Amino acid sequence: MKRQYARWIRELKERKKTPIVLSLDPPSGARRPFRALGKVLRETHPYICAVKVGRQLTAEAGFSKELLGLVEYAHCKDLPVICDSKLNDVAHTNLVVVKKHLRFGMDAEIVSPLPGWEGGLDAVFRESKKKGKGVLVLGYMSHPGARDTFELDLLRPRMKLYEHFAKKAEAWGADGAVVPATRPSIVRRFSSLTGVPLYAVGIGAQGGGAREATLAGADYLIVGRAITCSRDPGSAAERVAAEAAGSSMSV
Ligand code: XMP
Repeated sequence: MKRQYARWIRELKERKKTPIVLSLDPPSGARRPFRALGKVLRETHPYICAVKVGRQLTAEAGFSKELLGLVEYAHCKDLPVICDSKLNDVAHTNLVVVKKHLRFGMDAEIVSPLPGWEGGLDAVFRESKKKGKGVLVLGYMSHPGARDTFELDLLRPRMKLYEHFAKKAEAWGADGAVVPATRPSIVRRFSSLTGVPLYAVGIGAQGGGAREATLAGADYLIVGRAITCSRDPGSAAERVAAEAAGSSMSV
């Protein structure tokens, strides 16, 4: 069996001294997005511990040969690939989707917590665990409107919706929860409620700081445009990693 996802990314973070998960989204206006992203990956792989691909890429050309090329290149550089589908359906549909992603070479899936366990996410967790793959739960989103839903007060149990998700992520055996770098206080709250690794998103382009998110308890930093849109993506990735470690100025 291949390496277990959670251990793989943890060991890479420790060995390479970087918490960065590179969000491989096509730079806006790029005429040849896959070529542009191939270049970004070639320049950044020493400074990152995983790659995330999502709808921005699959909307471009589906699960194409070009996307497979990026996944295979990441693997040949010993990097796991996270699929950001925010999976959000009933179990038998989720299972079809996640099996397809795993066959394609994905090493972890980001899922929405909304379907709940039985008949929702149970099949995704079982299938992924059986194969040593990861499941990350969307805990709270990075954009301002996330308050409208994630901060709703629940009557039973008496807590915020996102606090419930933080507890469920651990109870379900998730390999991580996605949290907002744009709201360090929320990251801190997650950190006090759950033992799962925290993946903070929203660094740079959305206003979050790598150092602030790390100090608040983030274990990994998902970073897209701050690196992919830089003229020198390798240096940008190196800078974000240094900032997270507290050894350079803000991104
Ligand atoms: P930027 O360029 O803002 O890209 O660094 C962020 C990437 O992450 C996705 N995204 C999120 N994913 N929870 C997630 O699971 C979030 O709250 C969130 N906010 C942004 C976004 O689609 C892009 O790929």
